[in-house]
Amino acid sequence: MRAVAMFPAEKKIRVVERPSPKIERDDQVRLRMLDVGVCGTDHEIARFEYGTPPAGEPYLVMGHESLGEVVEVGGAVSGIQKGDLVVTTVRRSCGRPECRPCKHDRPDFCLTGAYTERGIKGLHGFMTDEVVDREKNMHVVPPEIADIAVLTEPLTIAEKALIELDSILVRMPWIDPKIEEKRGLNGVVLGAGPVGLLGALALLVRGFDTWVYSLESASSPRAKWVESLGARYLEAKSLAVGDLGKRMPNVDLIFEATGSANVAFAALPAIGKNGVLIFTGVPGRKSDVTVDAERVMRNLVLGNQLIYGTVNAGPPSFDHAIRDLGRFKARWPQQVRSLITGHFPPETIGDVLADGKDAIKSVIRFNTPPNAGVARG
Ligand code: BGC
Ligand code: ZN
Repeated sequence: MRAVAMFPAEKKIRVVERPSPKIERDDQVRLRMLDVGVCGTDHEIARFEYGTPPAGEPYLVMGHESLGEVVEVGGAVSGIQKGDLVVTTVRRSCGRPECRPCKHDRPDFCLTGAYTERGIKGLHGFMTDEVVDREKNMHVVPPEIADIAVLTEPLTIAEKALIELDSILVRMPWIDPKIEEKRGLNGVVLGAGPVGLLGALALLVRGFDTWVYSLESASSPRAKWVESLGARYLEAKSLAVGDLGKRMPNVDLIFEATGSANVAFAALPAIGKNGVLIFTGVPGRKSDVTVDAERVMRNLVLGNQLIYGTVNAGPPSFDHAIRDLGRFKARWPQQVRSLITGHFPPETIGDVLADGKDAIKSVIRFNTPPNAGVARG
């Protein structure tokens, strides 16, 4: 079978032939891979700045945003059957007895740093024809969202952030966290890449008044996309990020999806009363950033503000992402589909990684989905 492999020593990316994986334990499932998304992390891996092959191996099979079709299940598998479409999680536990989060199957909170990630750190990924993994790492996707299900994993970034936000909003007794109803709260997404645009959809379905702040001009296709949802677009060139508060009554939430520490820290003074700023980007080391720390600290204290970072994601975030993709598709079918800007065969990975500007989410298609003939768009 084919696999897209990154060779760190040779600094090369190429398609290699590998033996097909076999089911070796009765709780495992074998998948025929359909779609695998390409994200910022993959671009970093392809620049050889990130990503680690499994111990002792010369290459890493890339890919962590996946959709597969079940072709075989082990004897102890009960919740997944042949023909199901599934999305597989990325992180795996460190296995150290002292790590309570990993023992609890929540390696997204791993304490030791010895967790692994399929397609990123120490484990081969999903850019290959066949994959075997355990049932507990898989989430079944309804066939109605097969065309957009590859967006599940990138959406888990916002989903985990919003699960955590719910536990924070408990402090405000006038907001009922159980009924995911955020009407009257203002949420700003920083960055109009796939994580930001998916985050905007996640805010909108929860009733937030939603803004997207980004570099693209107000007449760009991305700005038009944002406005077509009923959200508002703010172009960075017309407004300093620290002045976001001038455009709305209170900045209740900022969801950072730029990966730029400069932008993220410049946004600190914009956090509103009782507001929350969530960091999701993983910046490289570029330059020092200056902040007005006294102003920021004063605001944090007198305004009950919170700042937190979050990395995706545990099983609940995958379940929420699958549910929300269904909601998004019901409300904005065309817009959600248009986030996927192209399907490409694995052999063209070099071009896909080199290209970029206009692509929102490029998808490597390994095999044709079962109902691709009848799916529209
Ligand atoms: C992936 C996460 C991963 C993170 C850091 C992201 O692109 O979606 O699963 O934890 O990168 O490696
Ligand atoms: Zn990713």
